Amino acid sequence: METNEAVAEGSSPEEETAEIDCGAAEEILKSFSNKRRYLIPLLQKIQDAYRFLPPEIVEMVMEFFNISRAEVYGVISFYPQFRTEEPGKYILKLCYGTACFVKGAPIIGDKIKEVYHIGAGETDAKKLFTLQLASCLGNCGAAPMAIIGDDTHGTIDPDKTTELLASYEGRED
Ligand code: FES
Repeated sequence: METNEAVAEGSSPEEETAEIDCGAAEEILKSFSNKRRYLIPLLQKIQDAYRFLPPEIVEMVMEFFNISRAEVYGVISFYPQFRTEEPGKYILKLCYGTACFVKGAPIIGDKIKEVYHIGAGETDAKKLFTLQLASCLGNCGAAPMAIIGDDTHGTIDPDKTTELLASYEGRED
């Protein structure tokens, strides 16, 4: 069985038109019943493996459940957690919850827009960051908060955020 890591390696930002390996999806499908109620958890598993929902894998899901394109994309578009485009190498979650909002999260969002030309849900041209706005990251005492990839950062400000993001540009992980 192919690991998530192997799938992630195959979809590096440099390989814009990398072919999708369906192996991981086949394994995931095998582990599920094709009852319609499993559609959402199955889509979640697939997104965990591929980091987004590639159209060719969504086709496999349609066949598996014997459901229409309209139905599956209706579900995908309803839940903001699902992505239909390959995200940047790092998911950048900027907290817009109340505590972070009043402590300047929108100003940080503006700075990110100025430097990387991305708003909520968008990926920068180098495919390094995909920006997501979060409602609360669970550490309001350290507002404003952001999570970049697996790293949590608190008490950030616009300048600190710019420096932080720049430090991810040359990273190998
Ligand atoms: S509101 Fe931002 S961490 Fe809670």
